[in-house]
Amino acid sequence: MSGKRTVLVSGGAGYIGSHTAVELINAGYNVVIIDNLSNSESDSVTGVEQITGKKVDFEVVDTCNTERLKQVFDRYEFDSVIHFAAYKAVGESMAEPLKYYQNNLVSFMNIVSLMKEYGRPNILFSSSATVYGDAEHLPVTEDTPRQPATSPYGNTKQIAEDILRDCCRAYAGVNGIALRYFNPIGAHPSALIGELPRGVPNNLVPFITQTAAGIRECLSVFGNDYDTPDGTCLRDYIDVVDLAKAHVAAVDRMTAGKMEENYEIFNIGTGRPVSVLELLTTFEKVNDLKLPYRMTDRRPGDVPAVWAETSRANEVLGWKAEKTLEETLRSAWEWEKKVRNIK
Ligand code: UD1
Repeated sequence: MSGKRTVLVSGGAGYIGSHTAVELINAGYNVVIIDNLSNSESDSVTGVEQITGKKVDFEVVDTCNTERLKQVFDRYEFDSVIHFAAYKAVGESMAEPLKYYQNNLVSFMNIVSLMKEYGRPNILFSSSATVYGDAEHLPVTEDTPRQPATSPYGNTKQIAEDILRDCCRAYAGVNGIALRYFNPIGAHPSALIGELPRGVPNNLVPFITQTAAGIRECLSVFGNDYDTPDGTCLRDYIDVVDLAKAHVAAVDRMTAGKMEENYEIFNIGTGRPVSVLELLTTFEKVNDLKLPYRMTDRRPGDVPAVWAETSRANEVLGWKAEKTLEETLRSAWEWEKKVRNIK
């Protein structure tokens, strides 16, 4: 089997990783999933297999463990890696910065070093719109200056981008793409895979679906006095299946040798700002239910508004977000109902 059509997906049992594995397989790639299951379940790999009808190579591996990771490189031939494996809770990263720097950076450096050592060229990194912080001009383009990170989590994204850029510059045969995700939401339409946060969700949509399911009493809308049309924050919510397809487009570009420079960055969003209130009323409407919610103080660290200028991804990757907010919010609820056994 040629390595060109095989992709190593680290963190492939996670939310975005599992959806990406599905789309890679649908596009004809073989995937090798590694995951330490620290914030995911092996059920999602079963879900990937059920959706695609294909058996997936899956190993429980911590990407911080260099020896274990080497065994994966020895065992499988692949030309590309998509590195999702990372911790992602902003608040926790403030309380436990070392945990974040240790895990997110060591694992990434292990991946990059072994890709270089084994002559495997293509590295795709999961970055985040968080690197833009409170941007001066909206929508943000890939050239909008990054703001100093306000959390260790955000800092690991910036540092990892820099590591990748520097390695692509220094080492011939190392190519990198960083995808800066906006706010990923929703689930696969089959409801076989989706987001499964442990404990109280930090992010808006899982909190909404858990409130609708009766697990949380009431949704807090963090601030309605922002300088935005309805006073609540604006974000760019991207459907997770659309986001997964952006990874396929990026891998296609790398494996086809089409990159213009050997390090490239793309914003992956819809280009449409949506307020917290619009999101929650759309959720109520499409799913025909009422959500208990109240206005509360702003959440420290939240930026008032951020959304993507997506023309680079549209034109260069040939990728565009296709799902409507309505479809996505329906899929989010279908998934929550499935997980909670709600008819
Ligand atoms: C958050 C992280 C960001 C990370 C991203 C990953 C913070 C400050 N930012 O982005 O670094 O990359 O998740 O997905 O944590 N909201 C409520 N009530 C809630 C939850 C959220 O009103 O219970 C509002 C927030 O104020 C925000 C919007 O919903 O305006 C989206 O919040 P969230 O889903 O947490 O995403 P971000 O804050 O954009």
